[in-house]
Amino acid sequence: MKHNKTNHFPKDFLWGGAIAANQAEGAYLEDGKGLTIVDLLPTGENRRTIMKGNVPSLRPQDGEFYPSHEAIDFYHHYKEDVALFAEMGFKALRISLSWARIFPSGEETSLNESGLQFYDDLFDELKKYNIEPVVTLAHFDVPVALIENYGSWRNRKLVSLFEMYAKTVFTRYKDKVKYWLTFNEINMLLHLPFLGAGLVFKEGDNQKQIQYQTAHHQLLGSALAVKACHEIIPDAKIGCMLAAGSFYPFTCNPEDVFQGMEKDRESYFFIDVQSRGKYPAYANRFFKDHGISIEMETNDEEILKEGTVDYIGFSYYSSRTTSTDPEVIKNMTSGNVFGSVSNPYVAKSEWGWTIDPKGFRITANQLYDRYQKPLFVVENGLGAVDDVTPEGEVNDDYRIDYLRKHIAEMAEAIEDGVEILGYTSWGPIDLVSASSGEMKKRYGYIYVDKDNEGSGSLKRIKKKSFDWYKNVIATNGAVL
Ligand code: BG6
Repeated sequence: MKHNKTNHFPKDFLWGGAIAANQAEGAYLEDGKGLTIVDLLPTGENRRTIMKGNVPSLRPQDGEFYPSHEAIDFYHHYKEDVALFAEMGFKALRISLSWARIFPSGEETSLNESGLQFYDDLFDELKKYNIEPVVTLAHFDVPVALIENYGSWRNRKLVSLFEMYAKTVFTRYKDKVKYWLTFNEINMLLHLPFLGAGLVFKEGDNQKQIQYQTAHHQLLGSALAVKACHEIIPDAKIGCMLAAGSFYPFTCNPEDVFQGMEKDRESYFFIDVQSRGKYPAYANRFFKDHGISIEMETNDEEILKEGTVDYIGFSYYSSRTTSTDPEVIKNMTSGNVFGSVSNPYVAKSEWGWTIDPKGFRITANQLYDRYQKPLFVVENGLGAVDDVTPEGEVNDDYRIDYLRKHIAEMAEAIEDGVEILGYTSWGPIDLVSASSGEMKKRYGYIYVDKDNEGSGSLKRIKKKSFDWYKNVIATNGAVL
């Protein structure tokens, strides 16, 4: 099919970047903040095990290094960082609120005014430059006290505590924030349950059962937050957020194709509920086949129905590939929590993540076909090692190349008819990697002088991609 090669982005397209409290702020116990899950994630071998729910202690341990404790110290550098985003011409900045900064113990009685004030100041700073905040309520974030007291999201109690938190921030920021998201990458809870939902497993736990009960609770929390947002801020839009990337069948063997469909449904399951307001038809069979039974209360169906999202937020880094052939599945890609077999037609990043710009267009089209609601690309980018030259420059042409190709495919998706509200690339300033805890895995247009061990001046340096992205925004995506 022939396509028009001039990129046409909507006039008010929200170009920008996305960061998250847990990977940027640091100041992990400052001004009354409580411990949050990421504060228990060290670098090194134990990280992955803990993210999966095998958590040795709910306190940081001696002898471990916890990168979130200082992160890039955005908490103290936000003015300087926002000024740099403004210099690039950002129209939007996606951030997340740290739940434990606002409710250190997660309970209403612990409300922390300093935490609320920090975000007020940040929103005011953004406003100075006409940068629209896009705010996620929970980005890999649960106050540790809620794990200690209730077992986190496996307990229905979290639904009302989350609703109370959501109502508090909607009321406080109703004049400053018009774009919201409920849970970051809600499907992550199936893959890294501690990271996604603060789940800590005990010997003998039926993990799948707990994960889907947790999913039900988060879906209720999301629906109640959507409803509250619509009531408190009628002119706001609130979305869900999917770790997207469609599955390709490795061959046209119907077995592979069917498995690809099922794997996609594993993720779509969440968005099907958040967008359509009810469990999808295929869920019944899935639950039956896996011996899962969801405990529901009488008005749950009503809650889900009344809390459907306005738009579909998603992250796209890679496509995924699946196969039923035992020989083929010996060849998995590393570093991908979604368990993908290696796709011989596409490249890989230094961390083994598939690089597939066309997959971005495919994914966007599939999401739009399925939900018929506006999309918002709230994460995309390349994690790579950057070297600073003796002259103090970072020549990240590989990042420019990745982004250029992905943005070009996004333009094609728009030509295809997909409605996209904006594009906030991940980590416009280097920050801590969620999966590995490394600083070395960098996504930014702005380099931060800090290494994996926590040493460095925290100085910010503009990379080559800084001016490139600035020009992309200035030309509204016409020049890539
Ligand atoms: C997404 C998350 O999974 O991907 C971010 O929402 C994360 O928090 C990003 O940082 C990139 O992953 P990583 O592991 O390279 O940091």
